[in-house]
Amino acid sequence: MNTILITGGSRGIGASTAIECARRGMGVILTYHRNPEAAQTVVQRIAQAGGKAVALPLDVGDADSFDDFRSAVQTSLHATWGQRTLAGLVNNAGYGLFNPLESVTPAQFDGLMNVHLKGPFFLTQALLPLLQTGAGIVNLTSATTRVATPGVAPYAAFKGGLEVLTRYMAKEFGERRIRANAVSPGAIRTELGGGLPPDFEALLAGQTALGRVGEPEDVARVIASLLGEDGGWVNGQSIEVAGGYMV
Ligand SMILES: NC(=O)c1ccc[n+]([C@@H]2O[C@H](COP(=O)([O-])OP(=O)(O)OC[C@H]3O[C@@H](n4cnc5c(N)ncnc54)[C@H](OP(=O)(O)O)[C@@H]3O)[C@@H](O)[C@H]2O)c1
Repeated sequence: MNTILITGGSRGIGASTAIECARRGMGVILTYHRNPEAAQTVVQRIAQAGGKAVALPLDVGDADSFDDFRSAVQTSLHATWGQRTLAGLVNNAGYGLFNPLESVTPAQFDGLMNVHLKGPFFLTQALLPLLQTGAGIVNLTSATTRVATPGVAPYAAFKGGLEVLTRYMAKEFGERRIRANAVSPGAIRTELGGGLPPDFEALLAGQTALGRVGEPEDVARVIASLLGEDGGWVNGQSIEVAGGYMV
C-alpha cells in the first residue's frame, strides 16, 4: 500500500483529501494542530470505509520540531504499514487572516510566513529522506496569488512564494523522479479564516463561471489524482481549482 502524509488533515480540504486518498487505496498519515478529536474522527471515517489512517500532532509553524516529527512518521509508517517510505506529501495546513496591508503587524506577518512558506520548505526538507522514488508532492497555494484580494496581502504573498518554491522542488527533486505541483483553490467552503459570510459567499459565487463556491471535495479529488498514477506526468505546475473564478 502507498502511504501519503497530509498536513492539516483534521478539517477542511486536508480532511477531504485524506478521505479521498484512502478511498483510492492509499494509506494516510494526517496531522492536526489544535483539534485532535476532529483528526480522530477522520481516522475513524477512513477505518469504517475499510482504509487505514494515523493522526499525528504537528505545528507547521515550528520548524525546530520537524526532526522529531520525522521520527514519529518513521515509527508510524513501520508500526502501521511495515514500511519505511512515503509515496506522497501534501503541504496543506494553513490559516487565514484578514487585515488590510496598512495595519498588518510584524507578528502577524511572521506567523503567516512560518506556516505558509517556511513550514512547507523545511518540512519537505525534513521528510525528503522518507520520500520514495516517484513520490508526489502537492503544495496548497491560493487563487489570491492571481487575483489581488484586499485584506490577505501577506497570506497571498507567501502562497506566491510557495508556488515558486514548487517549481524549484520539481527541478531539484526530479533526479529522484519526485514530482511537485501546486494546487491553487479559489474560495472553498471550509472554516478557513472563520468561514465565508453568506453575503461574501454569494459575491464569490457570482464571480465564478460555474456559479458557486467550491466544496473541499472539489479540491481533494484533484490532489488525489496528482498523487496517483493519473498525475504521473504532471510536474512543476500550478493548477487552479476554482470553478472558473474571475476568468
Ligand atoms: N478554504 C479556502 O477557500 C482556501 C482557498 C485557497 C487556499 N486554501 C488553502 O488550503 C489549505 C487548507 O485550508 P482549509 O480551507 O481546509 O482550512 P481549514 O478548514 O481552516 O483547516 C486548516 C487545517 O490546517 C491545520 N492547521 C492550521 N494551522 C496549523 C499549524 N500552525 N500547524 C499545523 N496545522 C495547522 C488545522 O489543524 P487543527 O484544526 O487541528 O488546528 C486544519 O486541519 C490552506 O493552506 C489554505 O491556505 C484554502
